[in-house]
Amino acid sequence: MSFDRSIKIAPSILASDFANFGAECAAVEAQGADWIHVDVMDGHFVPNITFGAATCAAIRPHIKGVMDVHLMISPVDAYIKDFAKAGADIITAHVEATPHIHRTLQAIRASGAKAGVALNPGTPASAVAELLDLTDLVCVMTVNPGFGGQKFIDMSDKIKTLRAMIGDRPIHIEIDGGVDPTTAPIVAGAGADVLVAGSAVFRGGSVSDPAPYGTNIRAIREAAAGVYV
Ligand code: DX5
Ligand code: ZN
Repeated sequence: MSFDRSIKIAPSILASDFANFGAECAAVEAQGADWIHVDVMDGHFVPNITFGAATCAAIRPHIKGVMDVHLMISPVDAYIKDFAKAGADIITAHVEATPHIHRTLQAIRASGAKAGVALNPGTPASAVAELLDLTDLVCVMTVNPGFGGQKFIDMSDKIKTLRAMIGDRPIHIEIDGGVDPTTAPIVAGAGADVLVAGSAVFRGGSVSDPAPYGTNIRAIREAAAGVYV
């Protein structure tokens, strides 16, 4: 995976047809998705359950590009190897989900995946200050994690602070939650480069009628491009 700060749109399959993940991933990639965002929830760290590493492994062959796995689970360390083996390119853990986030990020890198760290809306940017040399991606949650389709929470100040902290380091800033053509310019303008979007990508389309996915992805990309810094 090469690094750049161009805008990348990462559809979250949380908003897709759970009986058809493989075809949904292929469809959004064909319609212009840059990464595929995979939300793993445990019903403990977040109040919802999705699926685990076996499902990620089943999805993997259907993704040509980057598989971006967002772990909303606690504990996390015991499962890292399974998700790496499943073919995750990026594994992101929440700073709130583990007592030893430094150890968790070390374990992710040791597994061969890129290491992401996610921050809930209530967690300040300073939570990653000691972690930047161990981190390939900071995920700024713009909703409280657990569900798709929630209302965007403006985290612009946090994104700007992180962008300044990161400086020239090759670390992505990813935004997750409530991203659509209205909110994309806000987060891109503050310094984000990876935009996760679930409902705003999958709405109106399907595997048998995927063109709306492309229209939706282009609308987000174009809205973000106008203000990218
Ligand atoms: C929320 C998930 C998100 C979610 C985004 O806990 O981490 O990835 O799918 O969905 P939307 O774009 O609908 O807010
Ligand atoms: Zn997510």
